[in-house]
Amino acid sequence: MITDRSNATRRRFLGTLGSAALAPSFAPSAPDEKAVNLLAFGDWGASPDMDDPKDNPRVKLLQERVAAAMTDYATKLQLAGVRLDAVLALGDNFYGPLKSEDDKRFADRFENLYPKPALDSPFYFALGNHDYEDDKHVKDPAKKNWKHELAYARAHPDGRWRFPAVGDATWYRLDFPSGQQPLLSIILLDTNTDHVKERWEGQIAWMKQELADCQKSRWRMVAAHHPMFTDGYHFDGKKDPHLYPKIRETILPELGSATFYLSAHDHNQQHIRHPGHKHLDFLLSGAGGGDFIQKRRRPEGDAPWTNRFMESYGFLHLRFSEAEATAQFIGVTDKGWELLGQPVRRT
Ligand SMILES: [Fe+2]
Repeated sequence: MITDRSNATRRRFLGTLGSAALAPSFAPSAPDEKAVNLLAFGDWGASPDMDDPKDNPRVKLLQERVAAAMTDYATKLQLAGVRLDAVLALGDNFYGPLKSEDDKRFADRFENLYPKPALDSPFYFALGNHDYEDDKHVKDPAKKNWKHELAYARAHPDGRWRFPAVGDATWYRLDFPSGQQPLLSIILLDTNTDHVKERWEGQIAWMKQELADCQKSRWRMVAAHHPMFTDGYHFDGKKDPHLYPKIRETILPELGSATFYLSAHDHNQQHIRHPGHKHLDFLLSGAGGGDFIQKRRRPEGDAPWTNRFMESYGFLHLRFSEAEATAQFIGVTDKGWELLGQPVRRT
């Protein structure tokens, strides 16, 4: 039975790794079997080949800490009778080069680090910039990181590592609990404009069509690696001067029927509400353990939107029922996990 703990101080810390079950307080007192539950995280692929080898153990440890917290959290969901439908891995899945689809990092840094039975749900992944760019010395286009990630999914069709894109698309749609009776539709995009290149317009046309086709879903969410807006490391867009204008010009106007835009890339967690897009919550969950936490860079109050900026490692719990959609940020420290404030809630 999930406990409803409304006391604010109790909300600050409910999970301790290895402790007895203390379930998330925002969940209902009786599990809704029809509700769709997802975890989401990004920027999580610790590298065996960092620029500074001294950083390697530290970064590995950070990813392991978040993975252990996710495992503990998912266990508590199970104990509370809450079904975890899927995990969304929002890109930068591996830092540093992969040797092949048989690289042992798939076992070490995915299968074993996010173990069954706690996380016995499909992991649907997006492609991040590091999935495209951390193998610059590799000349053969068939041996690039992202190709190995797709190949691993194809080689294990019954496994948890999933990328159900068709043809040359690096984007896809998911319906939960099923395409016949969808409660939630997710459009998962590839926002790496420099790599999608001439396929970009095709992706946008596909997205428009899919959003039109899934209007019978109660909820729609669009997910990708890059944020539309951020107050963190990438706030001024200097690093990718063409990317942010392009995704804002081509994707954002189409999100009229979406409830959440979900992303990563900045190594922190953010909730943005924009006065020009009041129907939409922008959720950023890029704190899966990769490298250091990227702190707020834009001064508070210096943007037209409001931003709850969380400088912590962690992940996101998304829950969709007929009545409401909620997004609970979860922070991770060396002591365990904690709920970060109240969930974002849409009805
Ligand atoms: Fe990234």
